[in-house]
Amino acid sequence: MTPSILVVAGSTRSGSINGKLADAAQLALAQFGGDVTRISLLDYPLPLVNEDLKKQQGIPENAMKLGRMIAAHDGLFIASPEYNASIAPLLKNAIDWVSLIARDGEKPFKAWNGRYIALGSASNGRLGGIRSLNHLRSVMMAVGTQIITEQCSVSDAAAAFDEDGRLTDERMAGILNRTCKSLIDHCKRHGSRN
Ligand SMILES: Cc1cc2nc3c(=O)[nH]c(=O)nc-3n(C[C@H](O)[C@H](O)[C@H](O)COP(=O)(O)O)c2cc1C
Repeated sequence: MTPSILVVAGSTRSGSINGKLADAAQLALAQFGGDVTRISLLDYPLPLVNEDLKKQQGIPENAMKLGRMIAAHDGLFIASPEYNASIAPLLKNAIDWVSLIARDGEKPFKAWNGRYIALGSASNGRLGGIRSLNHLRSVMMAVGTQIITEQCSVSDAAAAFDEDGRLTDERMAGILNRTCKSLIDHCKRHGSRN
C-alpha cells in the first residue's frame, strides 16, 4: 500500500521557515514512498472559532473542505511555528474547526479520528520551536489522532535549508528522515482511513 500523506505548515507567511520545513518533509516523505500532497492554509481561510457562529451558520465551508482533505489521507506532517512557547493561532484555529465537525451531510464524520501525525517545528531560536510541539502533541491527542514518537525541531532555521530546500546539517536531515520514515511505516502497518 502507498500511504497518502498531507503536509501542512502552520504559517502562511511569505518566506516562512515552517513552510520550508514542510517542503523538506514533502521531499523526504516522497523519497520513502509516500503519495504526498502539500497544502497551504492560505487556501482555507477561516473565522476564529466561535460557537455562536457555528450555531448560526454551521461549520464553515473551508473547514469542511479541510476536514475532507485530512480524512482522505492516511497521515499528516505538520510544521508548527512557535508563538510564545506554544502553537500559533492560525494552526490551532484550523485544528479546532476541524475537530468541531461531527457529520458530512447525513453521515457521521470525524476527520481527525485515527490519522497518523508527525510533528515538526522551525524557529530561529536555539530550541527550534520544540515547546510548541509539546503543546501540539497534547492537542493532536485530544482530537483523536495517533502521533508518532519521532519529531523534528529545526533551530537557527533561517540558515538551515539549501537552495534545493534540503536541510544542510546532516544530523538534522537525519532526524527529519527518521520522522518521515516512521510516519510512512506507521501508515503502512496500520492504515488509517475510515
Ligand atoms: C507572537 C509571536 C511570538 C513568538 N514566540 C516565539 C517563541 O516563543 N519561540 C520562538 O522560537 N520563536 C517565537 N517567535 C518567532 C517565530 O518563531 C518566527 O516569527 C518564525 O519565523 C515563525 O515561523 P514562520 O517563519 O514559519 O512564520 C514568535 C513570533 C511571534 C509573531
